[in-house]
Amino acid sequence: MNDSATHPLHHSDAAASDTATTPSLRRGIRPVPRQPDLLFDDSLPDAWFAGDPGLSSFWSAFGILAGIAEQEFIDIGRALLGRMSNPAIIDETSRFLQQEAIHGAVHARMNRVLGDRDYPIEPARRFLLDIIGNIQTRFGDGAVIAWGVAAEQGIGEIGHAVMENPSVLDPAAELPRRLLLWHFYEEVEHQAALYDGFLHVYGDGSDSATLRRGGVALLLVTMALSLPLVSWVVCRHAFPGQQNRMRTWRPILRQLFGRNGLLRGGGANLRALTRKDFHPFDQHQPEAVLATRRDLCVRPEWERPVRSLKPTRDERRVQGPAGVLQTAAAAVGYLGDCARSTRHFLRVTTPA
Ligand SMILES: [Fe+2]
Ligand SMILES: [Fe+2]
Repeated sequence: MNDSATHPLHHSDAAASDTATTPSLRRGIRPVPRQPDLLFDDSLPDAWFAGDPGLSSFWSAFGILAGIAEQEFIDIGRALLGRMSNPAIIDETSRFLQQEAIHGAVHARMNRVLGDRDYPIEPARRFLLDIIGNIQTRFGDGAVIAWGVAAEQGIGEIGHAVMENPSVLDPAAELPRRLLLWHFYEEVEHQAALYDGFLHVYGDGSDSATLRRGGVALLLVTMALSLPLVSWVVCRHAFPGQQNRMRTWRPILRQLFGRNGLLRGGGANLRALTRKDFHPFDQHQPEAVLATRRDLCVRPEWERPVRSLKPTRDERRVQGPAGVLQTAAAAVGYLGDCARSTRHFLRVTTPA
């Protein structure tokens, strides 16, 4: 997956032959851009999730990282947009991009409140951008696109878990609870969007599946590094002394990995994503979930008209995968990059 590995692109037959619809549209699902009226201020407590340091640190870290990752998804979507010919896929991608832009903006409102308390927002931003930037340097732009496709599947799976059991967020303060419900609802609503755009551009051949496998591996590395580390650094800042106690982290570990944990579907989805014939709708029937949870998560007055977006001017090169040896060498280099980025992040966030 590097610069020398540009393969001819081919549209999947199914996607190219039907220009009036998408898998989501065929199910009556159409992502709707919504602007929620969630305004954060300094009344937000640090321990905003159940009064618990570990849960609050993890979900604050999630919001900080989500605010940064959304911009990456937008860049990826806009790069794919430049290669799309199917009007229905273009419309769906535009809706997806608009949703992600608003997610980023609303998380930024909450992050500003945390930033005013010197939470490590900027170092976390630098850290995540570094480990994503290193993917681009080592493996090429196609790998960043595949990383984004995998990330959308992972977040969509957490979205499904939350929609199945929204009471998991009941102990959170009202505003962040509503932010997370709205965000996860829309993640379910657009779970297929970036994937369908990717399939339209890359086709459904073996190069496409190889890239997706790489995207899953890279997502696992970036998430395994960024979420725990940023949570730990947030905890050290907001709840000094609590960050190294096992009991701080037990509740969030239970919430994520316990019985009915929020990450229970992620592994199965990401494993399936590596299959040649994967589609997110093989894993779930989102129509019923979206209908049942609509009133809880979103409001009609939040809906905004769809803006058609231009492809990015600096169009990201849409590449295929590289050979096995090149990829293996890049992987070794990438792990070294990640170790350096991690050391730097910990150094700049260590209190004097
Ligand atoms: Fe999002
Ligand atoms: Fe998303």
